[in-house]
Amino acid sequence: MRIESSAPMSPLTPHHRGRPITIWIDGEPVTAFEGETLAGVLLAEGRRALQRHGSSRARGLYCGIGVCFECLVMVESDAEEEAVSVRACVTLAREGMRIHTRAMQENRS
Ligand code: FES
Repeated sequence: MRIESSAPMSPLTPHHRGRPITIWIDGEPVTAFEGETLAGVLLAEGRRALQRHGSSRARGLYCGIGVCFECLVMVESDAEEEAVSVRACVTLAREGMRIHTRAMQENRS
């Protein structure tokens, strides 16, 4: 669940929300906020499975700090000509990004 208020959570850890942006996750438009990681957006949208491996075991966030590569998703953006594979936990959401998880694609095969 995403924190809806822009009020500081604590006087020691002020929280400043970025402006709302639209990104696309597996073809669906989603509101995200500048400064959020793709992992944060995916979790806020209830998407915990990001890819599946041969035995159809779901894979998702594990370390959350860019070490394990369990959170790989494909991203298309206007700035890139081809989709690139990125770690969702260390990639910031940008307006118009199109994110493709492999949870659905590999599940169909
Ligand atoms: S969750 Fe480990 S690299 Fe992203």
